[in-house]
Amino acid sequence: MPFHTIIEPFRIKSVEALKFTHRDDREAALEKAGRNVFLLHADDVLVDLLTDSGTGAMSSAQWGALMQGDESYAGSRSFYRFRDVVQDLTGFAHIIPTHQGRAAERILFHTTLSAGQVVPNNNHFDTTRANIEVEGAEAVDIVIPEGRVPSAAHPFKGNMDVAALERLLAEAGDRVPLVMVTVTNNSGGGQPVSLENLRAVRALCDRFRKPFFLDACRFAENAYFIKLREPGQADRTPRAIAREMFSLADGCTMSAKKDGLANIGGFLAMNDDQWAERARNLLILTEGFPTYGGLAGYDLEAIARGLEEVVEEPYLRYRIRSTEYLGEKLTAGGVPIIQPPGGHAIYIDARALLPHIPPLQYPGISLVNALYVEAGIRAVEIGTVMFGRHPDGSETPAAMDLVRLAIPRRVYTQSHIDYVAEAVLYVASLRESLRGYRLTESAAALRHFTARFEEMADTG
Ligand SMILES: Cc1ncc(COP(=O)(O)O)c(C=O)c1O
Repeated sequence: MPFHTIIEPFRIKSVEALKFTHRDDREAALEKAGRNVFLLHADDVLVDLLTDSGTGAMSSAQWGALMQGDESYAGSRSFYRFRDVVQDLTGFAHIIPTHQGRAAERILFHTTLSAGQVVPNNNHFDTTRANIEVEGAEAVDIVIPEGRVPSAAHPFKGNMDVAALERLLAEAGDRVPLVMVTVTNNSGGGQPVSLENLRAVRALCDRFRKPFFLDACRFAENAYFIKLREPGQADRTPRAIAREMFSLADGCTMSAKKDGLANIGGFLAMNDDQWAERARNLLILTEGFPTYGGLAGYDLEAIARGLEEVVEEPYLRYRIRSTEYLGEKLTAGGVPIIQPPGGHAIYIDARALLPHIPPLQYPGISLVNALYVEAGIRAVEIGTVMFGRHPDGSETPAAMDLVRLAIPRRVYTQSHIDYVAEAVLYVASLRESLRGYRLTESAAALRHFTARFEEMADTG
């Protein structure tokens, strides 16, 4: 067709009303929430970009599939459908359902790691890192150098630094039980990893005899970026590319709340029989029987259908383009973001936008809170609050102080996104009046979820 407008590849059958609030209401709600947007009542949020995890809209086919759910405790028909779909996509021998991604991480790491070991990744997501550190092991991030510089241009900023991985394996290989790569690289800006890079990691894992696992939460978005950007891949389907990505690994952890297009669920998949047996035994202890793994039969049906829909090209074209659209608007307005825009989110460089707020006074929190108070938009800090505290209790600035605007799948329309862009530009115009924050309460691990803050009287 001779048209360039990329439209939402769906029409809307059911809607959910938004609640409009006044600035004073939001100011009061945030104060009550300890100035932490995680502690807000979601009804007080107008446009919720806190996360793309579990917040997507399911299709009518998925809702229909829910009614097909078989709730048998053992041997449920829904499990076999789920297993077949996951196996067909990933090719892995063992498919272990879990209630979400972090459960897959906990089971994998608790059964394979011991204290003092090291797990390399491009960038560990917060739950991945926490599940490694809780075992007394170390989570090492070795994304390519461009992946650490928000403004640096690179088509695959999520790539692993292969030379650094080689050095790590050569020097400390006996302490590395497995290598991970996160696709797309959420903590590094939703940036993709190329097939070429995955092949290079595979080759190193073969040389050093290490199992290679993908953190596959956004495998379909990664596959579509490969189709768009990697030489020689343009004519392949996203599904064929995704299959090749999985074929390069020995297993994966997956949160079906992202590219499973479901509201809950996940899985751990792998080829190794012994590791799988250990994982299933722990699964039975903490999640449930291996044919439901903490999920209802209807959840397994929704995920199975979601995994089929997520690799459809019209969906991925719309998905990647709508994120890019927001990125273009912010860039045109002079707001520094991670370039190029990621798959599921735009990441504002809060450190660059608010240079007068030092990292240890949390510029990301300052920006997140201003976006909420001024416009009712909920974003999330991915920076020093999320990553700055170390297991020994010390605190240093994170590599970047980002604010992520995560776009739920199939939920908001173009006018919602226009509103978000307008609001971000407005808040950016107030930048000099924004102030730093200090923590008043915080947990030892994953503190960003429950911490409470106080705005500082003066920054400096
Ligand atoms: C890259 C990555 N890994 C793991 C997880 C954890 O998944 P879940 O929230 O389902 O536990 C997430 C969630 O946001 C993620 O983005």
